[in-house]
Amino acid sequence: MSSTPQNADTASIQPDYFNQMYAANIDPWDFETSEYEAKKYAATIAALPKETYRAGFEIGGSIGVLTEKLAARCQSLLSIDVSEQAQARAKARCKDLSHVEFEVMQVPHQYPNRTFDLTLVSEVGYYWGKEDLQIAQQKIADHLEPGGHLLLVHWTPYVDDYPLTGDEVHEAFLQTVGTTYQSLISRNDERYRLDLLERL
Ligand SMILES: C[S@@+](CC[C@H](N)C(=O)[O-])C[C@H]1O[C@@H](n2cnc3c(N)ncnc32)[C@H](O)[C@@H]1O
Repeated sequence: MSSTPQNADTASIQPDYFNQMYAANIDPWDFETSEYEAKKYAATIAALPKETYRAGFEIGGSIGVLTEKLAARCQSLLSIDVSEQAQARAKARCKDLSHVEFEVMQVPHQYPNRTFDLTLVSEVGYYWGKEDLQIAQQKIADHLEPGGHLLLVHWTPYVDDYPLTGDEVHEAFLQTVGTTYQSLISRNDERYRLDLLERL
């Protein structure tokens, strides 16, 4: 079976793609060592308006570098990923953090049966096709408590393999400002974009 997405314009990238990537290199984006990532992670955490969240949800937690930082701001944190392999590394990294829970899950077709006051979508939204993005938007909103925060962070340059661009992901969420969310922060860095939305 091919590891590249079929109908890249419309279909979400499937777990095989990520599993094969992690099998070749457990840190394919250099999350553990990149200065760019470290700065972006610091900006991501600094954007959180509340010091402490009751229940955080991280979609696509990968090997857990950002998970560990996010955990310091959450009383409980659920981190999910499609890749069990990546998650094994995240679990090892967070082994002393008993308030962090991990599950292998493919959003939006699977979604936790609980509500959150913080959802983080960092560098994962552009792997969804248009249809899955819409379903994900609905599920994220349905499981975010009023006053809860949705933090979006995405690389904006075009990537050939990805069904959507970071800008398309952020624009889709920003279209619901006024009805579903209010916008608290909207920031463009040279290579990434950050939006912090509050659930109405
Ligand atoms: C580029 S990494 C981002 C990691 C981390 N969020 C960060 O910002 O450093 C994307 C991760 O999302 C996971 N992923 C991709 N599609 C997913 C989906 N539909 N549901 C859950 N996780 C997904 C991949 O396995 C990968 O580990």
